Amino acid sequence: MKRRFPLYLLVPLLIALISVPTGFFYVDWNKSGEGAGLYSRDWKPEAIFAYWNPKDFYQSVDTVVGVFDGEQCVQCHQGVTPGIVNDWRKSRHAKPSGQQATVYCSDCHGNNHEDLHLPTPDVCGSCHDKQHGEFIDEKRYGFPSHSLAMERALDAKHFADKPKAEVTACLQCHSVASKCDSCHTRHLFSAAEARRPEACITCHSGPPHPDDETYFHSKHGQLYLAEGENWDWSKPLSKGNYPAPTCAYCHMDAGKHQVADKSIWQFGIKQVNPLTAGNIVKRKQWIDLCSDCHEKDWSADRLKEMDAERKRAWKKLYKAESILKSLRSDKLLFPSAKQRPFYPMNSESDLLHYERIGFFEGQASAFYNVSALERDYFEMWYFENLTAYKGAAHGDASFIKKGHEAMDKSLKLIQDKADRLRFIGELENNIKNDQQKYAPEKLWKNGEYTLYNRDNN
Ligand code: HEC
Ligand code: HEC
Ligand code: HEC
Ligand code: HEC
Ligand code: HEC
Ligand code: HEC
Ligand code: HEC
Ligand code: HEC
Repeated sequence: MKRRFPLYLLVPLLIALISVPTGFFYVDWNKSGEGAGLYSRDWKPEAIFAYWNPKDFYQSVDTVVGVFDGEQCVQCHQGVTPGIVNDWRKSRHAKPSGQQATVYCSDCHGNNHEDLHLPTPDVCGSCHDKQHGEFIDEKRYGFPSHSLAMERALDAKHFADKPKAEVTACLQCHSVASKCDSCHTRHLFSAAEARRPEACITCHSGPPHPDDETYFHSKHGQLYLAEGENWDWSKPLSKGNYPAPTCAYCHMDAGKHQVADKSIWQFGIKQVNPLTAGNIVKRKQWIDLCSDCHEKDWSADRLKEMDAERKRAWKKLYKAESILKSLRSDKLLFPSAKQRPFYPMNSESDLLHYERIGFFEGQASAFYNVSALERDYFEMWYFENLTAYKGAAHGDASFIKKGHEAMDKSLKLIQDKADRLRFIGELENNIKNDQQKYAPEKLWKNGEYTLYNRDNN
């Protein structure tokens, strides 16, 4: 008897054979627009993006013509951009140690003035293989990480969805991935500068990531403020060289150009188990680091206190989340997803108009129209929770207190509002005549902001 290929395998196989290449084709097509990333077809770059993301957007000026050697660049630019040349002269690139050749403007930007480039990390990597290699290797830890930061911002749907004025700064901070002058600024490119906390806080401050605030409230930050001026910043960040740690001392220990390798709680917006095998290894690295200056067991206890704080926080967050989810399943969140404007890149006919709650969907509440209660939960989860988290991570008791007090207050508010929604919802359900029901769509779906957004992505 002849065996036939079973139909129940053939159909899925055919679907896979067609859909996989189509999928790849679709992603490629989406990435081939004027912008960059997954939604490149839905937005246009601003001129400044050439500097924040030079690989995708920089095009050389053609106002100056000629091929020049390094000395000629310096001579003319002494008049055109004296600040740049002065910084460069002070830098190690202008006077490297030993027999090494001077690193000129042209080594980073090219010799032909009509075909200049702004150096991406791989240009620096041609001489600084170790730092560049470590930097790129960080990708294996996934998000969040410095080397994936640009993709993270570009592939966020709201980056494409929202008006430019609201999202442009995303790339400024997330450019930490696309150029090497975030921590050692151009054109000094100083290691000493990068060792200090000021190098990080241009990006690491503000409500969702108050690293700046919590570090400077901690004993470590206070010591830095009191005595830091007298420390010898030319020394590498290793045991014995500094009396108190800075951001880079803890997060880039021994000068390793990675910040994600020891990260357990990460950004702080989802619960993790600190006791997985992988996390125990990371925790041990943290304890070893603290032991540069503290006793081991003492350090381990301090980090356990952070885990305990996280457990307390997540108990409150899950409670709030479950209140929202039960309202959602009873169709009592108001205005519901169907009654409010859909996200600009979605269409009215999409099936997925539902209220977004929790780690995978809830982040949209930062950027889109949601109901008041969903926004309350977002504030609690993203801002109050992260206030407490960074307080615990960095040894700032005042932020732990502030974060938890705010979360307690939010939880109570959410509970009260939920009770009221249930009460009103029941009244509404008793009204039999649809005409008499309150319909907020008209107001919500045609506001000035919504209409503007729809036409100006
Ligand atoms: C004869 C003078 C002159 C010389 C020589 C010269 N430049 Fe320039 N360079 C300029 C001027 C003027 C500008 C501003 C051009 C503009 O804004 O349109 C400029 C702009 C630049 C920029 C900024 C481009 C941008 O898009 O912002 C870089 C980078 C640069 N020069 C690098 C170099 C390098 C590298 C060399 C040597 C290979 C060099 N320059 C030699 C005059 C000069
Ligand atoms: C070690 C590499 C390196 C060297 C050497 C270097 N640059 Fe740059 N330069 C950079 C980087 C990195 C940027 C920032 C690129 C970006 O914003 O994407 C930059 C940006 C610039 C810009 C445009 C942005 C601005 O700040 O105005 C100019 C102009 C410039 N460089 C000129 C020079 C001149 C002139 C010299 C020589 C005196 C020089 N560069 C030497 C790395 C270098
Ligand atoms: C052509 C080779 C070359 C390129 C390209 C290059 N560098 Fe350098 N860099 C050097 C040399 C040489 C030194 C000096 C090392 C020494 O003195 O031993 C140096 C030193 C440094 C230092 C140490 C400064 C200090 O304070 O100790 C930093 C930071 C640095 N470079 C960053 C960069 C960055 C960022 C880029 C890309 C924008 C870059 N370099 C591109 C060759 C290069
Ligand atoms: C130019 C902006 C910028 C600067 C400067 C900067 N960072 Fe970041 N950092 C970011 C961004 C953006 C992310 C989030 C990346 C993502 O979305 O994946 C991040 C993420 C991190 C993380 C989280 C890693 C994880 O796995 O959770 C740490 C830790 C970190 N940075 C430490 C530092 C330290 C220490 C410094 C200073 C030495 C510093 N950063 C300087 C922009 C910056
Ligand atoms: C002031 C600098 C700054 C700006 C502006 C900024 N970010 Fe970030 N972003 C960060 C830092 C720092 C982190 C990481 C914080 C941490 O790990 O604690 C981060 C984290 C993130 C994360 C979470 C990373 C993850 O993998 O979980 C996303 C997504 C993100 N940013 C997207 C954006 C988008 C989109 C915008 C613009 C609307 C934006 N960011 C604007 C600095 C910034
Ligand atoms: C998040 C901040 C940050 C970023 C981004 C960063 N660096 Fe650094 N870099 C530092 C710190 C901190 C030090 C000092 C390390 C130490 O003391 O051991 C440093 C030191 C260096 C040194 C001097 C090393 C030495 O031993 O003298 C070089 C070279 C360097 N970085 C190159 C790069 C290159 C290339 C890139 C881009 C791939 C880059 N850096 C991006 C923070 C950063
Ligand atoms: C004494 C060491 C220490 C110092 C100094 C320090 N941090 Fe942290 N930081 C930690 C610890 C510990 C965590 C929690 C790590 C974990 O378990 O995930 C953390 C968490 C973070 C996170 C979340 C990502 C992660 O790794 O979990 C960021 C981002 C961060 N710190 C940035 C900074 C910045 C920016 C500064 C300086 C303003 C700074 N830190 C100073 C120890 C330090
Ligand atoms: C480079 C040295 C150094 C490193 C590394 C370091 N610390 Fe500290 N730490 C200090 C100094 C100095 C003090 C101030 C001691 C005092 O209050 O008398 C301090 C104070 C503290 C305090 C406040 C103690 C109190 O009694 O008020 C805490 C908590 C703390 N460190 C936790 C940590 C943790 C956790 C780590 C590792 C993630 C760490 N430290 C890494 C030097 C360091």
